Amino acid sequence: MLETLTHPDLLRTQNFIAGRWQAAQGDALLDVIDPATLETVARVADSGAADAQAAADAAHEAFAAWRGRSGRERAQLLKRWHALILEHREDLARIISCEQGKPLAEARGEVLYGASYVEWFAEEATRTHGDIIPEPARGKKLMAVKEPVGVVAAITPWNFPLAMIARKLAPALAAGCTVVAKPAEDTPLTAAALVKLAEDAGFPAGTINLVCASRERTPEVVDTWLADPRVRKITFTGSTPVGKHLARESAGTLKKLSLELGGNAPFIVFDDADLDAAVEGLMVSKFRNGGQTCVCPNRVFVQAAVHDSFLDKLATRVAALQVGPASAETSQIGPMINQRAVDKIERHVGDALERGAHVVVGGRRVPAAETGTPGHYYAPTVLAGADATMALAQEETFGPVVPVFRFETEDEAVALANDTPFGLAAYFYTRDAARIWRVADRLETGIVGINEGALAAEAAPFGGVKESGYGREGSRHGLEDYMHVKYLCQGGLR
Ligand code: SIN
Repeated sequence: MLETLTHPDLLRTQNFIAGRWQAAQGDALLDVIDPATLETVARVADSGAADAQAAADAAHEAFAAWRGRSGRERAQLLKRWHALILEHREDLARIISCEQGKPLAEARGEVLYGASYVEWFAEEATRTHGDIIPEPARGKKLMAVKEPVGVVAAITPWNFPLAMIARKLAPALAAGCTVVAKPAEDTPLTAAALVKLAEDAGFPAGTINLVCASRERTPEVVDTWLADPRVRKITFTGSTPVGKHLARESAGTLKKLSLELGGNAPFIVFDDADLDAAVEGLMVSKFRNGGQTCVCPNRVFVQAAVHDSFLDKLATRVAALQVGPASAETSQIGPMINQRAVDKIERHVGDALERGAHVVVGGRRVPAAETGTPGHYYAPTVLAGADATMALAQEETFGPVVPVFRFETEDEAVALANDTPFGLAAYFYTRDAARIWRVADRLETGIVGINEGALAAEAAPFGGVKESGYGREGSRHGLEDYMHVKYLCQGGLR
């Protein structure tokens, strides 16, 4: 798929540090695999502590000048970057699909989604207002101003290789921070292409630095940034255990943190819901990126009176999904990212079946004979008879599996939904206005979809509570996460 790029120079395999593309010290390389064909499509820099250090030096060096620019100047560069992303949208989508596996239509959507954060934060860069505070004593003027926190380390996931780095870098840069970034080892090419476009947009050397690393060498890179007192913030999207590690290890230098961690989203269908709308909402939210999405429903609770009709409607829709490689425009579910991912799905389905669930649709790997490529495909699956003892009720499956649980009362549904240490997203469908506010109020999550499955938007605050982390991305809150408040008090005015 990469052979078809209109601008092959978007394909970068080196680190970008201090405005220069450069090999990792020691010239180590990491293979990038197409998860559909399992072929190596590129070899990128596999970096270690020295590269991470060089990136932090460059970001630190660039910080004073970057924060010294006006919000409008920073906005202009972000707008130029946004325009270049749109201009290269088809190439970017192909790079995403090639290394991440999602169908091309979804990859095209992801480019627009990621670009929307760049545009939004370009606009917000000019609105970092503070406060004039009425003076508590005469002869004083009190003011609170917003300042960029400093150098930011952005550690980004493979599931949305463009959108996630865009929604971290754009607010950081808008706020006046400089950045060191490390993309997931599975998907470094998209991040590098995005950084190449930032270079073309004219961001000053050292403002954005990119360091790629394999899973084995990632701790060297991240530990270097964790230990560096000049790195003032870590922003991370990924698993809860890694988020906790970052929180512990950054305590030594008391960094600011934004942690967008694992979810275990409940999706509740009450017996007064519009069932067709609920099925549609579930299809949109569950099967986005083949179920490899932190906010996608992991547990579907259906009230007893509508359980069977909902299950029938859902099964018909799921059975019709097309599984295949991104290179086939008809594919709706691509391969899972790697072997570990498909092993976890199999473990969850196997455990659920042993504990009494049964397969309504799917429940198997999809062989190469059906897709034409040897990738790690798993069939879109519906399981009935799920209960809270199953592994899939406790952990995020991160695959195209819908376990359906039956419930009787509203209280029971809310208790089941909240019975998890995670609290990222929740969804529910009902036509009862009073129930809408009751249930929305009681759900312990940072995001709630009410009669809606598509929640993501650059203007909305994205983030969790409980062990799904803290901090918000997108919206005006997403900018504040990269700033701190400085209080100024001038006296002697009488
Ligand atoms: C994620 O899965 O981490 C992000 C999904 C989104 O932005 O909707």
